[in-house]
Amino acid sequence: MYDFAADPARSKPEFYRELLAAADALTADENDGVANMANLAALVWQLVPDLNWAGFYRLLGDELVLGPFCGKPACIRIPLGRGVCGTAAAAGETQLVADVHAFPGHIACDAASRSELVVPVLRGGGVVAVIDLDSPLPARFDAGDQAGFEALAALVAFRI
Ligand code: SME
Repeated sequence: MYDFAADPARSKPEFYRELLAAADALTADENDGVANMANLAALVWQLVPDLNWAGFYRLLGDELVLGPFCGKPACIRIPLGRGVCGTAAAAGETQLVADVHAFPGHIACDAASRSELVVPVLRGGGVVAVIDLDSPLPARFDAGDQAGFEALAALVAFRI
């Protein structure tokens, strides 16, 4: 139905412009949040290289609960403030972790993970979810990835 492609020769800002355009096309006309999160996880998994996990945790009460994702089965509930995801949700700020083994309290859902990017999804000033990306490569994510995923989070905040 949809066949998105990303040109590996493109610059990072161009890559993320394409990713956002695809994400917009996938979610603009659908108001079911689970369906949109599922397609967004699949899109990121398909287009973003060197990931071993990509998906959502939703903030329900004082804990994060696993949402749609691609990758190995993962921890279902993460208390606010725990791990990289819980830290991002509690602070309302992106966590860019070059070496997960050096992050105090990192929760290892997949032992292959070496670096991680967690971006909060903010709606009306509050955190409603986080986008979690894991990579088997150390220092896989940089400021360009952070900016790209923060833009994605803003785009989909009212669609998930
Ligand atoms: N590593 C995360 C847990 C979620 S998994 O990576 C999918 C954390 O420390 O919060």
